[in-house]
Amino acid sequence: MPIAIVASQTGGPDVLRQIDLSTPTPAAGEVLVRHGAIGVNFHDIYVRSGLYPWPVERDLALGSEAAGEVIALGADVTDFAVGDRVAYTIPNGAYVSERVIETRHLVKLPDAVGYDVAAASMLKGLTAHYLLHRSFSVQKGQTVLFHAAAGGVGLIAGQWLAAMGVTAIGTAGGPEKCALANQHGYTHMIDYKSEDFVARVAEITGGAGVDAVYDSIGNDTISGSLKCLKTFGTLVNFGQSSGPATGFKLSDLAVGSFTVTRPVLFHFTADRSYLETASATLFEMVENGTLKININQSYDLADAADAHRALEARQTTGSTVLIP
Ligand SMILES: NC(=O)c1ccc[n+]([C@@H]2O[C@H](COP(=O)([O-])OP(=O)(O)OC[C@H]3O[C@@H](n4cnc5c(N)ncnc54)[C@H](OP(=O)(O)O)[C@@H]3O)[C@@H](O)[C@H]2O)c1
Repeated sequence: MPIAIVASQTGGPDVLRQIDLSTPTPAAGEVLVRHGAIGVNFHDIYVRSGLYPWPVERDLALGSEAAGEVIALGADVTDFAVGDRVAYTIPNGAYVSERVIETRHLVKLPDAVGYDVAAASMLKGLTAHYLLHRSFSVQKGQTVLFHAAAGGVGLIAGQWLAAMGVTAIGTAGGPEKCALANQHGYTHMIDYKSEDFVARVAEITGGAGVDAVYDSIGNDTISGSLKCLKTFGTLVNFGQSSGPATGFKLSDLAVGSFTVTRPVLFHFTADRSYLETASATLFEMVENGTLKININQSYDLADAADAHRALEARQTTGSTVLIP
């Protein structure tokens, strides 16, 4: 019998509980997918904790990326077949062993990309894609600062930046995380637990500053991140693991005629042609070895609450997956 890990209210990891599901039937335009692996993301924590608005469902299955096998087709589905290996990233609903999903959200997986790798990289890898190619179109020879460099998005982004010929400065908490990020594309790592990242960026860049800062930490880092930019630099704030930034004023940008943007992956992937092109690029880079996807934590789906505890407590590196 299929299962789901759901929450019926916001709160800590303990609000997650397991329920049984009856096997869903796909309607027109949908297929039934049996999940092989499900990705865990900080987004899941924002929803569970109430930082993001609670969607309409009473028993909400969290989870926004997964991969698996198509096991049944809706009436008019011709572009997918039973047995196809697929992956997707859409907001919520992925902490289930089987789900129906509209085919417009699915991409087919190359044979060489396993379900665990796809579930560990679809959301995080497409995020790296739009951050580097759309939010700030970083160019060979430029220098950027990327916070949470040893995390899920961070390890993918470091390798991507290195492949593009960009000098990446990363931050992470502790020497082990810094060493790991150094092995994944970051030229310079700053351990923010023992070093002032603003002073270190000034030192590394000879006072020039960086072309862009990719900041997913939010409250603890935004003001420092702005101080790291060169004139006309860009701040990309794409998350708030330390809480939403407070005290930020538009006039703060006048210091260096800065640009700031606050992007969300799902706005990019809503465009089917972007989804297809970016995911093809991502999986090609995984297949040809440019990107190594680090699945450093794996849990049974039933133990999703433990995965949340570890991610929130900053005990993880790279990607975390749940196995149904
Ligand atoms: N906007 C978008 O489209 C989008 C898409 C994907 C991800 N994101 C964001 O990107 C960030 C990374 O996501 P991820 O899933 O790959 O997570 P992750 O980077 O694997 O984990 C978050 C990391 O943030 C650091 N951190 C700093 N302050 C923290 C705090 N107060 N609490 C917890 N962690 C803190 C920790 O690394 P250290 O120990 O090194 O400090 C932690 O390991 C998240 O903020 C997420 O929301 C945004």
